[in-house]
Amino acid sequence: MESIRKIGVYTSGGDAPGMNAAIRAVVRTALYHNLEVTGIMRGYEGMIAGEFIPMNRKSVANIIQRGGTILKTTRSEEFKTPEGRMKAFEHLKKHKIDALVAIGGEGTFTGANVFLQEHGVPVIGLPGTIDNDLIGTDFTIGYDTAINNVVNAVDRIRDTAESHDRVFIVEVMGRDSGLIALRSGIGAGAEAILIPESETDIEALFRRLEEGRRDKASRIIMVAEGRHAGGFEVAEKVKARFPHFDTRLSILGHIQRGGRPTCMDRVLASRLGVAAVEALIQGRKGEMAGIVNNNIHFTPFHNAIKHISEINPNLLRIVDILSL
Ligand code: F6P
Repeated sequence: MESIRKIGVYTSGGDAPGMNAAIRAVVRTALYHNLEVTGIMRGYEGMIAGEFIPMNRKSVANIIQRGGTILKTTRSEEFKTPEGRMKAFEHLKKHKIDALVAIGGEGTFTGANVFLQEHGVPVIGLPGTIDNDLIGTDFTIGYDTAINNVVNAVDRIRDTAESHDRVFIVEVMGRDSGLIALRSGIGAGAEAILIPESETDIEALFRRLEEGRRDKASRIIMVAEGRHAGGFEVAEKVKARFPHFDTRLSILGHIQRGGRPTCMDRVLASRLGVAAVEALIQGRKGEMAGIVNNNIHFTPFHNAIKHISEINPNLLRIVDILSL
């Protein structure tokens, strides 16, 4: 096994709070182990274009508390082509980068895996996405901040819901995953939570609204964005069925993805950043570093990117019990 001398680090896909804390941990751990570190700007796009910046202890000073990513991020179409990946490989060779830390989600790891197989560059992934939809980690970097952002927003929405006796349909992010909706829905005291993993039974929601206590004035219905039925569709159906309800739709959008990372996300990012660099030094590659039961756990990329389709049934049950 050849020893590693220089590591490249990049963020790719949607930004997530805590990515900066992860970059900081990767850079400082590499320096601690006497390795050089290069920041690759704008994910795979920057790798293809050769946008590389040398990083030192100071380049990551004062970023642990910042949302977004100082390395910037993109979703690259060109990296999906062999020609694009070849250009990226040439730049890595030129800069003598012999291993990578990829911070992102499903798309990031899919690209990293193909790149490893094609060009043999060792890569370790860090789960950076608000969606929490990767297998092999209990939580992804950014998820805790996102659900706290949602809860804070819904606490404010509740003021209006309560004052006007309104029904609020709140749509949250998650691409094809209901994990943001589920946990933030419980935290925000939602009456019902509609997620893609459990078929949206609109009739069950109607029954819930009909049977609900008559003295219940305001109601929060949390809906995960989804390809089939998002907040807009649900709001239209509720309005048609209950014209006497004062119903509003609130789509939280990117407000969920921004802002200062929570302490949980900073600590998660710091632990995983250290683990990723030390894993590369030990010769690991093609794996995502995650946390399972509070221990560092490595999962091959091809398993990590399988979509989580099973939802903890206990969480769904809690929603039912507590919405009495
Ligand atoms: O993957 C993170 C995420 O925020 C998803 O929850 C959402 O579906 C998607 O990114 C939105 O992407 P964009 O910011 O590119 O519109």
